[in-house]
Amino acid sequence: MATATEQGLEVLYSRHQIASRVAEMAAEITRDLNGEKLVMVGVLKGAAIFLSDLARAVEVDTTFDFVAVSSYGKGQRSSGAVKLIKDLDEPIEGKNVLIVEDILDTGLTLAFLRKIFLQHRPKTLRIAALLDKPSRRIERIEADYLGFSIPNLFVIGYGMDYAERYRNLPDICLMPGGEHE
Ligand code: IMP
Ligand code: MG
Repeated sequence: MATATEQGLEVLYSRHQIASRVAEMAAEITRDLNGEKLVMVGVLKGAAIFLSDLARAVEVDTTFDFVAVSSYGKGQRSSGAVKLIKDLDEPIEGKNVLIVEDILDTGLTLAFLRKIFLQHRPKTLRIAALLDKPSRRIERIEADYLGFSIPNLFVIGYGMDYAERYRNLPDICLMPGGEHE
């Protein structure tokens, strides 16, 4: 694929900056688990690339699971209502669960997932988010492990899309003209 620069995209975080931050987050996660096992739950599709890098950087015995949610609406606008469209495959009762998400934006998605996962009584439930846009928050929720905090910009790449495009860009780039309405 053409590089971000070749496509005229501005890089916000390069693949190298991402890799070193992911390594730091993984070290923290490894430390906090104290030798216990982990279930990493990725939120499809945006978190797939982050999860695959984070999973290889943690030094713990881990399994994967994935959920998918829909937030009614494509493109940059999310409408508020969240629905689970793919549930967990394995029970999480009594387990150390880490929800892995690309961006914590309004917080609606993670607040929804946290609520339903807690009903399954995991031993611990934590959140790893690569990016956070605190100025957009509607639900009160924070990540336990956070990559980068950013202003109200629409970003693409490293798993994140605009209308399903750009997920395979290795860097996190700014979407041209991309502010949330
Ligand atoms: P929330 O429920 O508003 O926190 O929405 C989080 C989801 O919206 C993320 O998992 C992304 O899929 C999507 N999202 C929010 N901001 C961006 C962005 O800047 N680029 C791409 N996707 C985004
Ligand atoms: Mg997402």
